[in-house]
Amino acid sequence: MGRGGVRRIGTARGGALLRLFVTGAVTALAGLHPVAADAQEQPQPRILGGARTSVGDAPWVVALTDADGQQFCGGALVSPTKVITAAHCTVDERTGEDRDVANLRAVGGRADLNTEQGVVSEIAGVWRHPGYRDYSDGDDVAVLTLRTPMPQQPVPLVGADDQAAYQPGTRGRVYGWGRTSESGPASHTLNAVDVPIADNAECERAYSNFNGRAMYCAGVPEGGRDACAGDSGGPFIADGRLIGVVSFGTGCGRPHTPGVYTRLATYAAEVEGQL
Ligand code: ARG
Repeated sequence: MGRGGVRRIGTARGGALLRLFVTGAVTALAGLHPVAADAQEQPQPRILGGARTSVGDAPWVVALTDADGQQFCGGALVSPTKVITAAHCTVDERTGEDRDVANLRAVGGRADLNTEQGVVSEIAGVWRHPGYRDYSDGDDVAVLTLRTPMPQQPVPLVGADDQAAYQPGTRGRVYGWGRTSESGPASHTLNAVDVPIADNAECERAYSNFNGRAMYCAGVPEGGRDACAGDSGGPFIADGRLIGVVSFGTGCGRPHTPGVYTRLATYAAEVEGQL
């Protein structure tokens, strides 16, 4: 049980070249040991340019880990048993194979991954968007079904085709345990940073593969605030709703290089069909 509906993806997927440019994604998914002491030494200490946050601020944030507790992605609770994450978080980047569901856990209510707080759930099922091939092509969304319902408050999902949520300049907040600098360590504490949504023309300038139906991007022109490797799958919240999922980026926080997010309004009807 649990793997129903999950396609196998061959190793010869497209986008391999692009993936080489997406700093850190491979290493992040290969697993990083969070190093507590280093966080203070980074010039831009959190997520990238953000700050530590708490379960109280973001009860619906979950960490995706392997069975040993090694965090590799984030996600958001949209009901007690459903987590929205990135499709690419369901694939082992080293092999191109599906991650083994038996080796996946969702951790809710635990901002500091070095503690035992909150709830750990096994995964009963994975729905990955049927169009997903590679994050560079879009459709980077998945829904995990939890075996153990989480008591934490879920976050509302953006409405289907509520494209007004992506008005350029809209400030969103992105959450995760990813790297705190482009080549730095992941974080064992949950971090968040505010970034404005950029207009599609800016995204297209930074990414030749940018697809405005499937994606949006966010960041400040000067850089310095962004998600980074290990934040994939994590929530982008605007006006109290989940409107995006951390998908990819070239490096982290570089000038004129916004982070790219899955445009959930485009997928909301399909995702709701899974809830
Ligand atoms: N693909 C990355 C991951 O696996 C997410 C990278 C996001 N990068 C960015 N600059 N916004 O965690």
